[in-house]
Amino acid sequence: MNIVLVGMQWGDEGKGKVIDILSQKVDYIVRYQGGNNAGHTVVVGRKEYIFHLIPSGILHPGKICCIGNGVVIDPEVLLEELNNLSRNEIDFVKRFKISSLAHLIMPYHKNLDQLRETKRKNKIGTTGRGIGPCYADKINRCGIRMIDLLNPEVFRAKLNDNLKEKNEIFKKVYGHPGFSFLKIYRQYLEYGNLFARYICNTALLLNQATERKEDILLEGAQGTFLDIDFGTYPFVTSSSATSGGACIGSGIAPVKIDRVVGVCKAYTTRVGEGPFPTEFASGFGKFMRDKGNEFGATTGRPRRCGWFDAVIAQESVMLNGISQLAIMKMDVLDGLKTVKICTAYKYKGKLFKEFSHDLEVLSKALPVYKELPGWPNQDEKPHSLKELHPNARAYLNQLQALLKAKITMVSVGSARADTIMI
Ligand code: GDP
Ligand code: IMO
Ligand code: MG
Repeated sequence: MNIVLVGMQWGDEGKGKVIDILSQKVDYIVRYQGGNNAGHTVVVGRKEYIFHLIPSGILHPGKICCIGNGVVIDPEVLLEELNNLSRNEIDFVKRFKISSLAHLIMPYHKNLDQLRETKRKNKIGTTGRGIGPCYADKINRCGIRMIDLLNPEVFRAKLNDNLKEKNEIFKKVYGHPGFSFLKIYRQYLEYGNLFARYICNTALLLNQATERKEDILLEGAQGTFLDIDFGTYPFVTSSSATSGGACIGSGIAPVKIDRVVGVCKAYTTRVGEGPFPTEFASGFGKFMRDKGNEFGATTGRPRRCGWFDAVIAQESVMLNGISQLAIMKMDVLDGLKTVKICTAYKYKGKLFKEFSHDLEVLSKALPVYKELPGWPNQDEKPHSLKELHPNARAYLNQLQALLKAKITMVSVGSARADTIMI
């Protein structure tokens, strides 16, 4: 069984926690897009792990974890993450793999990401990790891949070509002194040496596993509305965060995907700029941000918060082919008098029941809400649907009916145990 797991909103839905739980049942866990713009949290006992590049299944002994070809890798960050695993005595050497085709984030990508933001009037609010410029080089056919680090001559030629062009741009457009060849060349060859034992043809590895009927979990990063095609463009990331990206980013063919699980919060959050129709007004927004501890796992930025938006969630079910839902952070809605679900947008007298592609509509539309009674704070964490307050159950039933997909998991806390499996 090959399962794809995707975020249904603007990222940070709680994918890390769900991946950690589902990892128990599979043999392989694969990241297939994005880079260290992602921050996936897994809580085990009192310890919190935040994974940026390494699949969130790594804590389970014996599971093979791959970084697929669709991911962009900052080797400095990867090395730090691997060292962190070693410090925590998590053995990974024989079960960690990196696709030879994955592209590398170079020092100039990070600078360019930050410099470009300073020039824009409409800032995206990127994570500044060099994600956009790295994917741009991939598409421009001048990117540098993992395999290139294992061949000093190929790497030399590619880096030379890149720096010749980029250093001119840095100087002329941004008044930046540019980058020295030798420093990057030596440093990245060293990374190549350190990673050589993990670099392989992961597509081959995964397809052979499928032949043997072994199970694969494909871990999406970001969320559907940060997808380069289907998101709230241009306020998106630079990769395919929808389920289709799982095939391109891993080399597993579409016919071999069995199921897509969608992860969404019981409300909505977004980090960075861009339209957010159900965003709370600032006072209530701050209250909910503190209640849900909504601060970015990667940049620490405060997350914007709002009511559950069924318009985008329905679009997400359609685009990703979601049949199963994990509803996260239900506990954060405890203690509210009423809760709201957005079922349509209204703009200039027109009712929008479907997601609009017009940035003006998305930015200015007023949400149409269905209001439901809230439920009190729970003294103890519920462990079954029966233990949930009836009003919380009614809220979940409403979501299930609107999204036409089955809720198979409800999360009521960050720990593994705070989970209702249905
Ligand atoms: P991801 O990027 O989708 O993996 O999500 P993040 O890790 O960036 O953000 C989710 C945050 O919510 C993390 O701090 C989790 O520990 C936390 N979390 C996950 N599920 C729950 C839940 O059900 N309740 C609460 N209160 N926190 C949760
Ligand atoms: P996970 O996997 C939330 C957002 C950034 C910015 C936009 C573009 O943890 O859910 P980028 O650096 O990718 O060019 O930034 O995308 N963004 C995320 N927001 N969760 C993420 O990942 C994100 N990765 C990128 O805040 O608005
Ligand atoms: Mg995150």
